[in-house]
Amino acid sequence: MAFRVGVLVSGEGSNLQAILDSVHGRDGVEVVCVGSSRTEARGLERAEGVGVDTAVFAKADYPDREARDAALGNWLDDHHVDLVVLAGFMEVLSGPFIRRFEGRIVNVHPSLLPAFAGINAIEQALEYGVRVAGVTVHFVDEGVDSGPVILQEAFELPYARDIAAVEQRVHEVEHRLLPRAIQLIAAGAVSIDPDQPRLVRVDDGRSR
Ligand code: GRF
Repeated sequence: MAFRVGVLVSGEGSNLQAILDSVHGRDGVEVVCVGSSRTEARGLERAEGVGVDTAVFAKADYPDREARDAALGNWLDDHHVDLVVLAGFMEVLSGPFIRRFEGRIVNVHPSLLPAFAGINAIEQALEYGVRVAGVTVHFVDEGVDSGPVILQEAFELPYARDIAAVEQRVHEVEHRLLPRAIQLIAAGAVSIDPDQPRLVRVDDGRSR
């Protein structure tokens, strides 16, 4: 039986593209639906291009965020998703949604969490003057970018800080790390230790 993935986007969708290119249709993993918070998101076109079902869940179309998230959750359940992937989904999801899909939502964030949570993480890191930057894939809890870490990858920053170059480097890492995390979860290689719920065990052949 396929491992069914629903992806949520808000914009460009380059992470979605990486998932479609390297995970979708392989090793029993299928992206079955792509939802967006914005009609203009290019991610929608990318999904439609490969025949994946799409829908828009804009907050403005609902009385409040919880109503939007309930409709989004029903749509994801209709698609029988095993995992919800936030790939550049630029909105905070409400508590009932997080609890409904507890332990089954992952997010990619362009910093080494817990540093620089929230928006504009790359700008925050450059303003701070860090020498090492990176990417985090983590489970989503009810806080902002605060759930247990699944994978992280760091890289050193050159002294001359060109934000476009740093963004490009971040994207290269994201486009490897997020698909890898999905493959590992689909393979049953990722688990949270019930006695230490911050600790995510990843059986990826390396001792972690
Ligand atoms: C990524 O940098 C991700 O870390 C952040 O939003 C960006 C989305 O990029 N949360 P894209 O839409 O996948 O191209």
